[in-house]
Amino acid sequence: MQTIQDLLSEQVRAAFAAAFPGADLAGLPLAATPAGDEAFGDYQSNGAMAAAKVLRQPPRQVAEQVVRHLPTGDLLAKVEIAGPGFINMTLADDALARHVAAIQDDPHVGLPQSGAGRRLILDYSAPNVAKPMHIAHIRSTVIGDALKRIYRALGYEVLGDNHLGDWGTQFGILIMGYRHFLDKAALAASPVDELQRVYVLSHQRCEEDPAWQDQARAELVKLQAGDPENRALWQTFIDLSLEEFNRIYARLGVSFELIRGESYYNDALPGVVQKLQDLGLVRESEGALVAFLDDEKLPPCIVRKSDGGYNYATTDLATVFSREQEFQPAAILYVTDERQQLHFRQFFAIARKAGVTTPLRHIWFGLMRLPEGLLSTRKGTAIKLDLLLDEAEKRALELVRQASPDMPEAQQQAVARAVGIGAVKYADLSQNPQSAVSFTWEKALAMDGNSAPYLQYAYARIASVLDKHAERFPGHDWRAAPLVLDSPHARRLALRLARYSGAVCAAAAQEKPSLLADALYDLSQAYSSFYQNVPFLKAEAGLRESRVRLCALTAKVLRHGLGLLGIETPDRI
Ligand code: ARG
Repeated sequence: MQTIQDLLSEQVRAAFAAAFPGADLAGLPLAATPAGDEAFGDYQSNGAMAAAKVLRQPPRQVAEQVVRHLPTGDLLAKVEIAGPGFINMTLADDALARHVAAIQDDPHVGLPQSGAGRRLILDYSAPNVAKPMHIAHIRSTVIGDALKRIYRALGYEVLGDNHLGDWGTQFGILIMGYRHFLDKAALAASPVDELQRVYVLSHQRCEEDPAWQDQARAELVKLQAGDPENRALWQTFIDLSLEEFNRIYARLGVSFELIRGESYYNDALPGVVQKLQDLGLVRESEGALVAFLDDEKLPPCIVRKSDGGYNYATTDLATVFSREQEFQPAAILYVTDERQQLHFRQFFAIARKAGVTTPLRHIWFGLMRLPEGLLSTRKGTAIKLDLLLDEAEKRALELVRQASPDMPEAQQQAVARAVGIGAVKYADLSQNPQSAVSFTWEKALAMDGNSAPYLQYAYARIASVLDKHAERFPGHDWRAAPLVLDSPHARRLALRLARYSGAVCAAAAQEKPSLLADALYDLSQAYSSFYQNVPFLKAEAGLRESRVRLCALTAKVLRHGLGLLGIETPDRI
């Protein structure tokens, strides 16, 4: 289905073209967007302001001419100009009701399949072997997974690739630490913590003791040369780490189509550097091979160190060549924290010069602040996600026990899992990824605010309305009832339902799941005022079915939207 927003945008663009034939308005923001305030209609276009400069006319005058070409009737009930030249549009109730009704039977819940036939590679999560998952990897995992679901819902084929940090100089140090400091019991109890501990000890020794450092280098060289013993140790580090990462992914409901760590590209690195040399993109400088990026106003980037070792950027170059060749994606998206912006700018610039034509996008986010005292364990950013999730489920269980004391214990626990995990994910996804945010339990678990439990609870309440209707009025099918928007509450709710697909498209285009979260919160608030102000089961037959149908549509959209955020919707809370 086409979104209402796109339909309106087309009409607005056509009206501009008709009003100003011959003017070059391409690339100007003429499109319709949801009106911020309902006093200004349902959608608005600020295009007259943008076009005024090109047309050298006052914006209001531009708007007046455009409006003359914007037909009211079928789709639009009213078009008005406000302020300096905003074009405010109000949908006809009929058209709104028809559009919303069509969502019911659409297998894509009204979402346009604009990505059909196109493949994306999404590079996210990517924790480092032998280190506990850092908060940045958790955010990357949750945001990347939501984006994957969003792009898929729009028809894209998405390959999620977990580019594990499983190669590099740290492995020589780790091998030394493992051989000399290992506590077997600790390894059995908490493998990644123990690997991290022996790594830190060995790293300290490297700084103090040059002989130790030489030995660590020698172990690395042996590993790189394929020494069976060191290879086996390295494989153990990976297996132990993946076991822990996989347990976390399972709890979060996250999976990957590909798990190709840095080591996967190891053999390709000399060829990549050769290629850069052949293209004249790198020069020798103090023994290292360096790409100078003066034209791009970026600092130089080392692709081969003076000791012959390769860098993070070199691996990413090998990775992009391989992905482009093997998968011919429409784009490759990388989800990491903000600290990697320079790395991606440099590596994208080199990739371009080396002939990569696939659009490459770095989707970065700020680090979420975890206030002290959030967990009773160690502070800092390397908090253990497992503990955070345990705590979330524990707190959610309290909520569920209060809300549904009569629910069987096993079900309470299952619901608490969905609510607790959902709360943690939503606390992350509902924030603009690029602004600094801090996590608090009060916000994450608020039953009366913008939180997963609030939305999940709204969903469960709607589900119970549908059950009650089926129980009390057997045989009264709401599915085919005409949708009557007979109150401002019903109309407002229908408008939120109609805006859903536009919000998903915006979240995809701007790479911000928070735009989808905002729309779901808006929807559930509109539902709440509908529910409180309009009788359902007590309404007369006909009207009753129409209202129940609006409820059912709300449930469908809420469930679908939360699903795109990777959040479950239990039928009861
Ligand atoms: N392992 C890296 C880190 O922990 C993240 C990798 C992101 N993906 C990439 N293709 N560079 O910082």
